[in-house]
Amino acid sequence: MNNILELRSDSFRTLMAYFRCAIMEIETKFNVLNEEFSLQHDRNPIADIKSRLKSVESIEDKLTRKNLPVTCEAIEKNLNDVAGIRVICTFIDDVYMLADALLSQDDITLIQKKDYIENPKPNGYRSLHLIVEVPIFLAEEKRFMRVEIQLRTIAMDFWASLEHQLNYKKNITNAEMIQNELKHCAEVNAELDRRMSEIKRNIAGMQ
Ligand code: GTP
Ligand code: MG
Repeated sequence: MNNILELRSDSFRTLMAYFRCAIMEIETKFNVLNEEFSLQHDRNPIADIKSRLKSVESIEDKLTRKNLPVTCEAIEKNLNDVAGIRVICTFIDDVYMLADALLSQDDITLIQKKDYIENPKPNGYRSLHLIVEVPIFLAEEKRFMRVEIQLRTIAMDFWASLEHQLNYKKNITNAEMIQNELKHCAEVNAELDRRMSEIKRNIAGMQ
């Protein structure tokens, strides 16, 4: 079938529906963990969950950029971020606690882990990225779907959102100074996360 046309086919729509189901599965898992933790500890480790399905245009762009055919098969085989979930946590400890709890579930397979909290990107970006495979249960079959999960604190999310917005402005004159300033902000931000965790530990110690 013609490449571009395949993205308008029934099989493409079906594949996108499967990715939406995978997002629902993972979101539910995080909601369950949040509920359990808040019962036990009287606070929510998750401040917010956002999810998105990659747009047809972005899928097409990415496949073309990677010199891959624009087909459903190529999407399933090569794109790990069609289904994306961002989990915004209150404290850094919550990021790792939630990631560990999810990865220890027996229907979840870890495909890739990138710890940009332990090893921030050169620009200062911090988050824990997981690519996982989760089964979705259809009437007559079980399918394994890939989902990209980004876990980060509220502070990391604040920084990443601003950095993303600022990088859309293409005609920046003093780009280098701005990059340095953003990186500095990321470090101040990380220090804030550390200090807030310290306060939490001190309060917990008093109880
Ligand atoms: P793609 O960029 O998706 O092709 O994959 P990659 O292999 O580079 O993945 P990586 O895990 O590094 O980043 C994937 C996603 O993380 C991006 O689509 C963004 O949502 C987010 N991200 C990564 N780096 C940055 C960054 O420097 N700034 C911001 N704001 N977001 C970032
Ligand atoms: Mg991506």
